Amino acid sequence: MAVIGSGPAGFYTAYRVMAKTAARIDMYEALPVPFGLVRFGVAPDHPEVKNCQEKFEEVAQSPDFRFVGNIAVGDASSDSAHNPHRGYVPLKALAQHYDAVLFAYGASRDRKLGVPGEDLGGVHAARDFVGWYNGLPGSDSSRIVADLGRTDSDTAIVIGQGNVALDVARMLLEDVDVLRKTDMSDEALEALSQSHVKRVHVVGRRGPIQAAFTIKEIRELVKLPTVGLHSFDKASLLPPSLKDLPRAQRRLMEVVAKGSVTPLKEAKKSWSLDFCLAPKQFAASGAVDDRVALATFEKTRLTNPFDSNSHAEYTGELVDVPTQLIFRSIGYRSKALAGFDDLGIPFDDRRGVILNDGLGRVLRDIRSPDASMTTQPYPGFYCAGWVKRGPTGVIASTMEDAFTTADAIIGDWESNAPFLGKREEIRDGWDAARSEVDVTGAKVVSWADWQKIDQVEIRKGQQLGKPRNKFTRTEDMLAVLN
Ligand SMILES: Cc1cc2nc3c(=O)[nH]c(=O)nc-3n(C[C@H](O)[C@H](O)[C@H](O)COP(=O)(O)OP(=O)(O)OC[C@H]3O[C@@H](n4cnc5c(N)ncnc54)[C@H](O)[C@@H]3O)c2cc1C
Ligand SMILES: NC(=O)c1ccc[n+]([C@@H]2O[C@H](COP(=O)([O-])OP(=O)(O)OC[C@H]3O[C@@H](n4cnc5c(N)ncnc54)[C@H](OP(=O)(O)O)[C@@H]3O)[C@@H](O)[C@H]2O)c1
Repeated sequence: MAVIGSGPAGFYTAYRVMAKTAARIDMYEALPVPFGLVRFGVAPDHPEVKNCQEKFEEVAQSPDFRFVGNIAVGDASSDSAHNPHRGYVPLKALAQHYDAVLFAYGASRDRKLGVPGEDLGGVHAARDFVGWYNGLPGSDSSRIVADLGRTDSDTAIVIGQGNVALDVARMLLEDVDVLRKTDMSDEALEALSQSHVKRVHVVGRRGPIQAAFTIKEIRELVKLPTVGLHSFDKASLLPPSLKDLPRAQRRLMEVVAKGSVTPLKEAKKSWSLDFCLAPKQFAASGAVDDRVALATFEKTRLTNPFDSNSHAEYTGELVDVPTQLIFRSIGYRSKALAGFDDLGIPFDDRRGVILNDGLGRVLRDIRSPDASMTTQPYPGFYCAGWVKRGPTGVIASTMEDAFTTADAIIGDWESNAPFLGKREEIRDGWDAARSEVDVTGAKVVSWADWQKIDQVEIRKGQQLGKPRNKFTRTEDMLAVLN
């Protein structure tokens, strides 16, 4: 089986399939280093979350597992993160040389708001900011570094109230000396130490009861020393008695309502949860430059403030917030792989997912002899993780989802369902597919190669009192292997 992507979805599916069958797995990863968002998404001050890597390392020790790093599935022309050191293998080569192909390539884009001014200077995708502070190769750091360093950038707005929004707010508010003990990139530490941000608005179009963040992440923010939380209109957005709420929601609302440990008047920095504001437009200051100076929001009214599924209705009333820095944190987004059209693999562009049966089998439309269309599983193609169900869910839920897909693969194999090759045929996987790699000379990174990169990063980190000092450029990662 070919697995495309080395994040939690790829590794947990591989683990389950290898545990229950005699399958051999080649895992393709576009970057020279594995683990997807565990390395490039999870916040540097959450090292315990990265413990899942130990399980992934165990999976990689199997003689039936092969890591094919620095090789993207697709082609260079459709790769927005293209770099000259990366190799590309076409999807159709995998279809020819494997019995099964698993799509576990996550979400490499971000959702846009679609409001005027979204492309002004000073407006960033949270995905770019997160990638940058986590050392993702190819991150466009210069704009972020310059924007953080501007003396007039004292007020930042984060749009969206999910856990990524809280990660972004925490990185802006946290004492940099605390972050120095993490694996945050040196460049990000330097830029954050120069940051002038003192006030962060975390803005949601609905209320606290509807917010997507969770209790552990809110707790971290309210406990930050020297950081205060502004109050909000509790009377209209929270029920008179929190006791009536379901237990988990009650505990979360108690933390939100109680506010920060540090009183506002003693705080050096502050933040707020601004509810019921939908982004309307961002405007520059005028003739001077094309940088954002003002964010305009439209106030919303909730159909039922105490119902988690409540809708927001627009009121027409506008609110202006002067700002020089905006982070759009309204979700990541998957894209179709180059080669999907040729193979007839359907991608739902609106939801950003591969069409599947919910259990991980890719579906396709087939024309019957009577010319009617039916939707059927596409033999041999499976999906897991964010590209299967959309860009939500923590590592634990991605694991559950990957196990569901693995069980579908195992069940299909055991019930003699059709796969890509004939059962009696041995397919050669990477040994055959490697002849079709585009970009001659691209270094293929094996698991042993990754372990060398890993050891150098850890050693450099130890010298600095950090768990690791990440390479942030592909060429530096590959230079370790020369
Ligand atoms: C900012 C952020 C912070 C998070 N923090 C937490 C947290 O603290 N705790 C928690 O439990 N969950 C957290 N999550 C959620 C968690 O990261 C996801 O649930 C999980 O990573 C999704 O796994 P995945 O394998 O589907 O995708 P990913 O982890 O994105 O893995 C996909 C992999 O596919 C590779 N790839 C992409 N295209 C190609 C291609 N064409 N060819 C080959 N390889 C390719 C990518 O490089 C990547 O390595 C966070 C998410 C984000 C965005
Ligand atoms: N520490 C952790 O465990 C951790 C850290 C980071 C991420 N994660 C997980 O990773 C997943 C992704 O997180 P995420 O924060 O990217 O996504 P998310 O949880 O889906 O949150 C997205 C936020 O954006 C808002 N939004 C969406 N479209 C909008 C629009 N057009 N205008 C204004 N607001 C809009 C949503 O509001 P509506 O609800 O109104 O749509 C919501 O508040 C989540 O499952 C998250 O829990 C976990």
